[in-house]
Amino acid sequence: MSTTNASNIKLSQTPLFSAEEIAARVNELAAQIDKDYRGREIFMIAVLKGSFLFIADLIRAVNTPTVVDFVRLASYGSATQSSGIIEVRKDLEMSIKDRDVLVVEDIVDSGLTLKSLRSMLLNRQPASLRICTLIDKQAQRVTNVPVDYIGFSIDDGFIVGYGLDLDERYRDLPDIRIIENV
Ligand code: IMP
Ligand code: MG
Repeated sequence: MSTTNASNIKLSQTPLFSAEEIAARVNELAAQIDKDYRGREIFMIAVLKGSFLFIADLIRAVNTPTVVDFVRLASYGSATQSSGIIEVRKDLEMSIKDRDVLVVEDIVDSGLTLKSLRSMLLNRQPASLRICTLIDKQAQRVTNVPVDYIGFSIDDGFIVGYGLDLDERYRDLPDIRIIENV
């Protein structure tokens, strides 16, 4: 059974990941991050817009001190395929030189966006650079990019909710659902 909105998009009625499951996983990731970053300050970078709820929960779940900055990227290419050439729509406001940087992503799919962001950030000489993603679509990867922290792995399918959108909609859902008809 599914619910249908005006534009005939069908969301799975049962969440793929419930709000409780997400909260529990965020706490587990935070515990791991606290262990790895003990005694340091984390420079967390949210890749907008998709990771805004995830980073909001993550910074409150970690005990390690954090500072937060934001980037917004646009990827050239067709609607369905990322070209790997990214345009920086909104750059960081602070310098990451000599900082312990943790990039917080919503989804790593082809990996092209992240690979490009990673080399851009490495050029700015951070002390360290790690990547945390809420969702890993490993089966879709076309390029090798190291991902250090993974919330959930899924094989396929288009998902929305908890910050993730389909044409800017459904970011406000508290859980993650599958689009059944794309
Ligand atoms: P890629 O890794 O360069 O292919 O791009 C990954 C980006 O595509 C993610 O950061 C999301 O913004 C978007 N994306 C990929 N799969 C989904 C999905 O299932 N739901 C919502 N956004 C997605
Ligand atoms: Mg994104």
